[in-house]
Amino acid sequence: MASKFWFSFLILFLSLQLCTLSTARHKRTLPVMKFISALPEGSSPVIMNCKASRFVRGSYTFKPADSYQLKVDINDTYYCLSMFGMKFNSVYAFEPVRDKGRATIFWKIDLNGFSISYHNFSFKFVAPWESE
Ligand SMILES: *[C@@H]1O[C@H](CO)[C@@H](O)[C@H](O)[C@H]1NC(C)=O
Ligand SMILES: *[C@@H]1O[C@H](CO)[C@@H](O)[C@H](O)[C@H]1NC(C)=O
Repeated sequence: MASKFWFSFLILFLSLQLCTLSTARHKRTLPVMKFISALPEGSSPVIMNCKASRFVRGSYTFKPADSYQLKVDINDTYYCLSMFGMKFNSVYAFEPVRDKGRATIFWKIDLNGFSISYHNFSFKFVAPWESE
């Protein structure tokens, strides 16, 4: 009798452990990059292509006041190349070491170029539009 009791107890204990484990796994969501266009109305579109490990992982054409988000594999470096009329711009949009532990990486796209923030405010300017 006693051993049956302990056996049931053990099963209950193990299933609780499993529940905790799977909850933990669900909580570990992938970081996401949010690109937000702050270009004035009437601007040309911005065409962006992002690659990681030589593969295209995302592309988007931004209208003014548009936004786009891309989930990130935490071990990959993402390089995004953008065209704005005759100008271009490139940024390392996600870098595993620089962005370690961040849930969201915000990128603001405006007439100056690309700026980064982890909180959607106090953006740090990173890369200007260039013409050659
Ligand atoms: C990232 O790399 C680490 C160390 O090599 C590895 O333990 C982990 O599973 C990797 N994560 C993903 C999501 O590939
Ligand atoms: C980021 O901030 C801007 C300006 O305050 C706001 O319009 C936008 O909705 C925010 N985006 C996200 C994803 O929080």
